[in-house]
Amino acid sequence: MIVLSAFSPLSPQALAISNLFVAILVIMAAIFALVTGILLYVIVRYRARPGQGEPRQNFGDTKLEITWTAAPLLLLVVVFFFTIHTMAAADPATHGRAPDLDVIGHQWWWEVRYPGSGAITANEIHLPVGRRMLVRLDSGDVIHNLWFPELGPKMDLVPGQTNYMWLEADKPGTYLGACAEFCGTEHAWMRLRAIAEPPAQFAAWQRHQLQPAARPAGGETARGGALFSQLTCISCHAISGVGGPTEGIAPNLTHFGERQTLAAGLFANTPANLAIWLRDPQEAKPGNHMPNMQLPEIQVHALTVYLESLK
Ligand code: CUA
Repeated sequence: MIVLSAFSPLSPQALAISNLFVAILVIMAAIFALVTGILLYVIVRYRARPGQGEPRQNFGDTKLEITWTAAPLLLLVVVFFFTIHTMAAADPATHGRAPDLDVIGHQWWWEVRYPGSGAITANEIHLPVGRRMLVRLDSGDVIHNLWFPELGPKMDLVPGQTNYMWLEADKPGTYLGACAEFCGTEHAWMRLRAIAEPPAQFAAWQRHQLQPAARPAGGETARGGALFSQLTCISCHAISGVGGPTEGIAPNLTHFGERQTLAAGLFANTPANLAIWLRDPQEAKPGNHMPNMQLPEIQVHALTVYLESLK
């Protein structure tokens, strides 16, 4: 099972943030122990005893006052420099570099484009292991926030305002990401995955994405393919070699069958789950922008067979 965890950093950016967290935690724990220790000592050592009068009254102590002003100031200066150091490591300057990846937030899915090659996908990012990718972030509707806890900082996707973040993974694997800014009904089901693989495998994946969709061999697959174009599916979902909008209205399905999940992480991508989705997307993920098409069961089956064949 893959989980969202900020405690297992697997990129230099995430490691910098984690180190800052641990450093501040240790400093604060030491202060907490010191203050609590002194307090407990004073409570016991100077507790009221029977027959004891008023203690001696003190007013002001310049040395003490300077100490308890200077100590927190010094501490904050130290934390300030740790933070500046972390910011430089977790979010280095882009120096006008062209982005490697475009991620566009939509209610409630992620459009992913590789501007260098023209590859397009959705809800799954592929990365070459150990290479720092510059991600350009944009939104198609409201403010979203992209966050891969194991891979680094989070960053807002703001309509009309381009933001950037670095994405990098030290080890091959599948990393879970989420939208970290409340963006409406299905905010919690706006998940995505980053799949980090060796550079050669990543290059092969990218080349494959540029291929048009697999042609249906015949039978049920061909019936599903025909339905996809005849019904309104194609008005929102593009399939390269078949048609559809160029704008990201809904996820591009050219290589849908290869994806691990569907509906932005809601379901594992299996024929049974896809059929549930096609029968009534509003039941599965209330509020999403795909209407219930009232498809008869034979159409649900044909479309499922066709879509799962798109590898
Ligand atoms: Cu998108 Cu929350």
